[in-house]
Amino acid sequence: MRVLLTGSSGWLGRFLAPQLRSVGHAVTGLDVAPGPETQVVGSVADAELVARVFGAHGIEAVIHAGALHKPDIARYPAQHFIDVNVTGTLNLLEAAARARHDRFVFTSTTSLMISQAIRDETADHAVWLDEESGPLAPRNIYGVTKRAAEDLCRLFHLEHGLACLSLRTARFFPEEDDTHRDLSGENLKANEFLHRRLTVEDAARAHVIALERAPQIGSETFVLSAPSPFARGDAQALKEDAAGVITRLFPYAPGLYARRGWHLPARIGRVYDASRAERVLGFRCETDFSRVLDALRTGAPLPFAHDADYVSPQVRAEARPMR
Ligand SMILES: NC(=O)c1ccc[n+]([C@@H]2O[C@H](COP(=O)([O-])OP(=O)(O)OC[C@H]3O[C@@H](n4cnc5c(N)ncnc54)[C@H](O)[C@@H]3O)[C@@H](O)[C@H]2O)c1
Repeated sequence: MRVLLTGSSGWLGRFLAPQLRSVGHAVTGLDVAPGPETQVVGSVADAELVARVFGAHGIEAVIHAGALHKPDIARYPAQHFIDVNVTGTLNLLEAAARARHDRFVFTSTTSLMISQAIRDETADHAVWLDEESGPLAPRNIYGVTKRAAEDLCRLFHLEHGLACLSLRTARFFPEEDDTHRDLSGENLKANEFLHRRLTVEDAARAHVIALERAPQIGSETFVLSAPSPFARGDAQALKEDAAGVITRLFPYAPGLYARRGWHLPARIGRVYDASRAERVLGFRCETDFSRVLDALRTGAPLPFAHDADYVSPQVRAEARPMR
């Protein structure tokens, strides 16, 4: 198919475009920032540009990954988030409905399931989060606008029969976490594979599968994260002594961690349950926590990217001196 990929210069986009081509799709990348996978530099918030790109490139399906996201909260006003994440999504959905597309894939985020209370981990147990979790109360403009975009996808399925899959993706960014400073970047990422992270390669693969399966599935939301080794019955113990639960499941983990000077998490406050994506979408992440331990044991490279200096291409482009 001729696929429009928004956010093609971004971290996900640069992995997703080649994966799409490898299964035979022709990809047109659209991004505000230039990049090797981007053929059109422009904004999804520009409805005329979107219409022009659809016509000029004969677009048959959209994967909408371009967005302002969490780190952008510190850089851009709320109105920008509405323009890009809400109006931009609406522009693409309207163009897709006009062109009578039969599928649309939207990169959403697990962040929209995180209320202030979940963020503050006020519960006495780890909170299990899946597609049924609610009522949703996103705690920032990123989550609010991603949720609105998901609702627009649902509406376009209702009103136009456009099959729309929203992929509530857990974290896969390579840079340092901007809120945790107590663990090294690699240690923190490794721990997150237990309950709230996936590799960018797996995130890209999920999009390829979603594009293929959307017409059979219709309108759906899926949580994407590495399969967690925990069971719901562990919820209380995870909050009280996560390291103990992990040691019970992976007795060799403390030794492997100690060799690196790493620490297992003392407490875990939330777990993303991606089992529905496995059952309905037919997608399961290839990289999970046991793969991380395998790498520690064999000395192989860690199976995830860590780049403390990663900067979004949009921020890099804006930082360039004007000529
Ligand atoms: N990185 C994560 O951990 C994570 C987690 C969950 C969901 N997501 C979602 O994944 C998607 C891709 O994020 P990423 O991690 O690759 O981030 P990124 O910042 O590397 O890429 C996002 C891309 O969107 C582009 N973009 C911004 N405004 C645009 C506009 N108006 N028109 C077109 N393109 C625009 C940016 O230039 C950038 O290249 C986003 O929708 C994000 O919300 C990311």
